[in-house]
Amino acid sequence: MTNNLKLKIIFKHIKLILVVCFLMSALTIDINAKNFQPIGTVNPSKYIPAQKQIAESKNGMVTTQHFLATKVGEKILNQGGNAYDAAIAVGFTLAVVLPRAGNIGGGGFMVMHDSVTNQNYSIDYREMAPAKSFTKMYLNEDDSFNDKKLSTFGYLASGVPGTVAGFWEVHKKFGSLDWELLLEDAIYYAENGFEITPYMGDMLSKYKEKLSYFEPTNKIFMKHNPNFIGSKLVQKDLANTLKLIAAKGKDGFYEGEVAQKIAHEMQKNGGLITENDLKNYTPKWRKPLISDYRDNKIITMGPPSSGGVHIIQMLNILENYDLKQIGHNTTDYINLLAEVMKYAYADRSKHLGDPDFFDVPILEITNKKYAKSIKNKIKIGESTPSSKIMPGLFEDNESFETTHFSVADKYGNVVSSTYTLNSTFGSGVTIKGTGILMNNEMDDFSAAPGIPNQFGLLGAKANEIQPFKRPLSSMSPTIVMRDNQLFFTTGSPGGSRIITAVLQSILNIIDFDMNLEEANKSKRIHHQWQPDILQIEFSLNDATREKLRGLNYNVEVIDPATCIQTIMYKNNMYYGYGDFRRPDAFASGDIYD
Ligand code: GLY
Repeated sequence: MTNNLKLKIIFKHIKLILVVCFLMSALTIDINAKNFQPIGTVNPSKYIPAQKQIAESKNGMVTTQHFLATKVGEKILNQGGNAYDAAIAVGFTLAVVLPRAGNIGGGGFMVMHDSVTNQNYSIDYREMAPAKSFTKMYLNEDDSFNDKKLSTFGYLASGVPGTVAGFWEVHKKFGSLDWELLLEDAIYYAENGFEITPYMGDMLSKYKEKLSYFEPTNKIFMKHNPNFIGSKLVQKDLANTLKLIAAKGKDGFYEGEVAQKIAHEMQKNGGLITENDLKNYTPKWRKPLISDYRDNKIITMGPPSSGGVHIIQMLNILENYDLKQIGHNTTDYINLLAEVMKYAYADRSKHLGDPDFFDVPILEITNKKYAKSIKNKIKIGESTPSSKIMPGLFEDNESFETTHFSVADKYGNVVSSTYTLNSTFGSGVTIKGTGILMNNEMDDFSAAPGIPNQFGLLGAKANEIQPFKRPLSSMSPTIVMRDNQLFFTTGSPGGSRIITAVLQSILNIIDFDMNLEEANKSKRIHHQWQPDILQIEFSLNDATREKLRGLNYNVEVIDPATCIQTIMYKNNMYYGYGDFRRPDAFASGDIYD
């Protein structure tokens, strides 16, 4: 080839690159300047209290714990975005409109079914322990537990957040719309504010003490105290942080101005997170756990969430029974469920932790033979005290406030994601100048054997604190397929109760043929082995309660704490239902438009 020809080819390529760059920037400018149409003022009274009927749609479905986030997801789907795009937009919007749990200062898990590859995926964007953390960081010098709420409140309670990196990773792999477009609505609501609903107003009142302790948090969330309801919550600093993330991708959070502010505030106030911790944070693609239950395929999250492992374990035990014949929420049914739950949570206490640090015996716990061996120990009509139930023995190991959203699109992609700040409003700390409310996820580690976390959960070596480790979770985003297509997707907030709530939503639909409204409204029960208490949602009938007491259960009637967001697919239609237990929850679809 002559030099002349070479030059011509190079020139041609440069021209092509320049044209492509120009087109891309034109496209970007066009998208940015364009017709951004906020969903704008939505009259909350149209959407609350809670879902009144099952939502239907042919073109995909979004269910979240706040109707504004649901509408944003719906808008993205209507713009031709796929379920991944909508889920990311929903996640960012929840960080603004549901500050008790929605977040960019926390982390979570996402389970996905991709229609193009017909494959299932899951990503772990759980928080990580900072490099300077150590096993005994919440213990006194004599190894006794330092009960100063250090793992739940304040700067020392936070793990390195994973949400932004997780969303960025999903966007790179599956996104179809421009990243910036996915943040526009969140930025709009942070900058211009949105109306505080009665439910949110009640929450702000209830958590007044926590929200007024640290000045940057107080300034934002207590501004309208005591007249929260109907006031506008404006979060200008958060809007600026979201703008940086929109412009720079994940680096807008993990590097530069925002990262510096997080590290600076942490250092000033006794926290551990450094700029290096933020820079080095990585979400992880992990193999989802897949199992069968009757004729359905269960696709769910593996460790460091314990949710999927124990849902599969409990389903494996329960498939040995004809549950319909036993009868929904009868004494026998609750008796059976409670016993099954105890065995699962006993295993959780010993064997579950971050698989990057501890050899979690997933195959053993989810083995159908192991399930049979547990089944053989259970007798309906009797209860075994938790003190007599020990975690299973496997040879090869030793080495509350959350929110769920589900999206399905018309292309067949499904996203089920649960993310969290841990407690309601996380650690109570907002990083000055950023609007970022931080998680208190360090409490999900086991501070020491025998020391329960805020959910009363016990842990052991598998879940001890180590630098860069992820704390064990109960979050259980789950997709159920039947005949190789979506049957339903489900998930919930609720700390330790997530696993049992998701289990019961699966049983309600599969074993009891309930529609989404029935599945949602039926009362849930919970037992987590330790403490040895059978929790029953309010208003389960008195006779059943007394019969359970007769079986020696220590029955406690509780307020509802979970909030299932389910999407079902049937006869080419999507159905959605937002759990009434959290009144702002809402499924998209055309019923209110
Ligand atoms: N922070 C609650 C959970 O991850 O289970």
